[in-house]
Amino acid sequence: MSDSPVTSQDPVPVLDRHSKENRWYYKEINDQVQPISRKLLEEYSHIPANEIDAHIYKMRDILWSHAPYPCVGEFKFLDLRLPKHPLYTQILTTLRKPSSPILDMGCCVASDLRSLAHNGIPSTQLFGTDIISSYLTTSYSVFKDTDTFHGTLVPANIFSPSLFSDEFAGWEGRFSIIHAGLFLHLFNWEQQLTVCEIIAKLLKEEEGAILVGEMVGCQGGGLRGGPANTDFWKKERRHWQYLHDEESFARLWGEVEGRTGTEGMWKVDSKFVVRRQEKGGDGSKSCAFFEGEGIGWFTFSVARVMGS
Ligand SMILES: C[S@@+](CC[C@H](N)C(=O)[O-])C[C@H]1O[C@@H](n2cnc3c(N)ncnc32)[C@H](O)[C@@H]1O
Repeated sequence: MSDSPVTSQDPVPVLDRHSKENRWYYKEINDQVQPISRKLLEEYSHIPANEIDAHIYKMRDILWSHAPYPCVGEFKFLDLRLPKHPLYTQILTTLRKPSSPILDMGCCVASDLRSLAHNGIPSTQLFGTDIISSYLTTSYSVFKDTDTFHGTLVPANIFSPSLFSDEFAGWEGRFSIIHAGLFLHLFNWEQQLTVCEIIAKLLKEEEGAILVGEMVGCQGGGLRGGPANTDFWKKERRHWQYLHDEESFARLWGEVEGRTGTEGMWKVDSKFVVRRQEKGGDGSKSCAFFEGEGIGWFTFSVARVMGS
């Protein structure tokens, strides 16, 4: 497998990153917001149906002014990913047990945590983290739940050298579930190894502790140029992102096992579905940021196996 770029197509914007002319700043909401997200805003945030679009446009522009991620420009920040994950029922069952918390990594406005709260999961089980602290603070305006959401939202750069002594102090071996939605694909292979090592450290040392997630994938696995890395926002330099299919993701976790001395102690399941050109990876929505031959949607889980 080559680690060279999978395409010569260059998705790096020529425009200023905050420009509303970027392809991934959608001018119209159209059907970009899922019905279940609208329902959450209606039932959990108590926003009248006829005011929801205006609320979303307003919040999207506030978030875009903080950091113009494609997930914000494309209205994907409201997407609920966990309900579509194949292990969602198991996730809910785990979260209903005491002291079995979830950490949503790169959670943006933590929509999935709000959906879990709405489904009766106690806030003591709900943790989120993101490098853009204003995404976390603005999330209370997005969901109008300043007084009612008591989950824990912690700003942190996942690569912070002080992660376990500062931002994530006391979090080692704490989580039953870690969710990484559209997160791993921000990084190159080496960075993903680092993130997965951190995930392994955060997960409980018990059978079934699990990483679940979704990302943009690529047939054959490979690098793609993009600006979505943290460093880009500061230095605006080019960055390569690794997109997976089943084989490359298993290979990544093979390397994680080697680095963490946990050979044979992770059960990796994943599924790559190539995207039809006119539709998004989940078959429902378009995605302007990642385009091209062999691009698709990649869903995964990695569960700890303790052995006998
Ligand atoms: C593509 S968005 C995905 C948001 C959400 N998880 C979802 O599924 O829609 C990626 C998120 O990762 C965050 N992020 C990027 N680099 C990060 C880093 N180094 N540490 C922590 N969060 C980071 C961004 O701020 C952004 O909210």
